[in-house]
Amino acid sequence: MTTRSLFLLPGDGIGPETMAEVAKLIDHMNAKEGAGFVTDQGLVGGSAYDAHGEAISDADMDKAMAADAVLFGAVGGPKWDDVPYEQRPEAGLLRLRKDMALFANLRPAICYPALADASSLKRDVIEGLDILIVRELTGGVYFGEPKEITDLGNGQKRGVDTQVYDTFEIERIAGVAFELARTRSNKVCSMEKRNVMKSGVLWNEVVTATHAAHYADVELTHMLADAGGMQLVRWPKQFDVIVTDNLFGDMLSDVAAMLTGSLGMLPSASLGAPDPATGKRKALYEPVHGSAPDIAGKGIANPIAMIASFAMCLRYSFAMIDEAVRIEAAVAKVLDDGLRTGDIMGDGARPVSTAEMGDAIVAAYAAG
Ligand code: NAD
Ligand code: IPM
Ligand code: MN
Repeated sequence: MTTRSLFLLPGDGIGPETMAEVAKLIDHMNAKEGAGFVTDQGLVGGSAYDAHGEAISDADMDKAMAADAVLFGAVGGPKWDDVPYEQRPEAGLLRLRKDMALFANLRPAICYPALADASSLKRDVIEGLDILIVRELTGGVYFGEPKEITDLGNGQKRGVDTQVYDTFEIERIAGVAFELARTRSNKVCSMEKRNVMKSGVLWNEVVTATHAAHYADVELTHMLADAGGMQLVRWPKQFDVIVTDNLFGDMLSDVAAMLTGSLGMLPSASLGAPDPATGKRKALYEPVHGSAPDIAGKGIANPIAMIASFAMCLRYSFAMIDEAVRIEAAVAKVLDDGLRTGDIMGDGARPVSTAEMGDAIVAAYAAG
C-alpha cells in the first residue's frame, strides 16, 4: 500500500483546535479509503519555546524536511510577547519556510455562494469571486540583511530592515504565477511599488521579461501595490492571479480574506521547487490566519481554513485531486446547510463549534 507521510505542527492558540478537525479527516480517509497517511507530530512556535527554548527544534526541522508534506496550524500569542526576538514563535514558521526553501505561497480567495452576504462588502462585489494571490515567501524584507536595531549613541536607536530581491527569485515566482494562470483565467497582475523602491523597479522588469520570453499567451498587467489594495476592495473580480512580494503578499492576502467573509476561510500552500531527480517538492500547508488569541481555548474557531489547506495538500503534494475536490464540496455543502462558526455568522444560520463544523465536513465528505 502507498504510504504518505504527513508531519503535523499544530502550534499555538487555535492551531491545535483546527488541526484536530483535519486529523478527523485523515483518520476517516485512512480507515475508509486506505489513504495510507502516516502522521507524526511536532512542536512549533510558543509551545516549542516552552518545551525547549526555541521556536522549532532541530529534530522537528529534520522531520519537516523528511516528510512528504507538513501541515501547520498557527503560532504566536501574548504569552510570548517578551521572549527574545530570535526565539519568538513566528521565528519557527520563518525557519520552516527558509530552510525548506518554500518560495511560492499560494493563497486562493474564494467566495463560497452561501457566504456572499458574510463579507463586509456588497454581495455583487464578491459573489463568484475566485482569485489567487501568489506571494513570494523566502525573500524580500522578511529575510534581507542587515536586519537590526543599532544604538546611535545619542539617545537614539535605528531599526533597519532590508528589502532585497535577486533576478532569479523574481523569475521563479513569476513562473509559478504564469503557470497557474494558464490553468485558470489566464491573467496575471503583478504588484510592486516601482515608484519608490529599487526592488520594485527590478520586480517589474523581470516579470515583464519572463512574460515576454515564456508566457506571452498569458495576459499580464502591472499595478502599484497600494492601488492594488484599493482595487481588491473596489472590484476584486477584475483579478485572476496576483503575483507580489513577501510583505505586500502578506498584507494583500489578509485584505483578500475579508472578501470571502473571514480570515478563518483562507487556506494556503507554501511550495518549494521540484527536485530535478524525483519531481517531488517540499511543501507546507498553512492557513492564512494566526493563532487568534482572542478566541483561543473556546472551541469556536473556524476550522475551514485549516481543512481547505489540507485539501490543497492533497492536490499539490499527492495529486489526490478527486479527494481535494470532495473536501471543498463538503465545505460548500455544510455552508449551504447553514452551519456557521461565529466569524461567519449570519441571519438564520446554525451556530456550531469548531468540532461540530469539523464533524459535519467529515460527514459530508463521507457522503459525497
Ligand atoms: P489572527 O489571524 O490570529 O487574528 C485576527 C482576527 O481574526 C482575530 O479577531 C481572530 O479571532 C480572527 N480569526 C483568525 N482566524 C480565525 C478563525 N480560524 N476562526 C475565527 N476567527 C479567526 O491575527 P493577529 O491577532 O494579528 O495575530 C495573533 C498572533 O498570531 C500573533 O502572534 C501573530 O504573529 C500570529 N500570526 C501567526 C500566523 C501563522 O502562524 N501563520 C499568521 C498570522 C498571525
Ligand atoms: C502569515 C503570517 C506570517 C507572515 C507571520 C506569522 C510570520 O502573518 O503567514 O501571513 O508574516 O508571513
Ligand atoms: Mn499574515
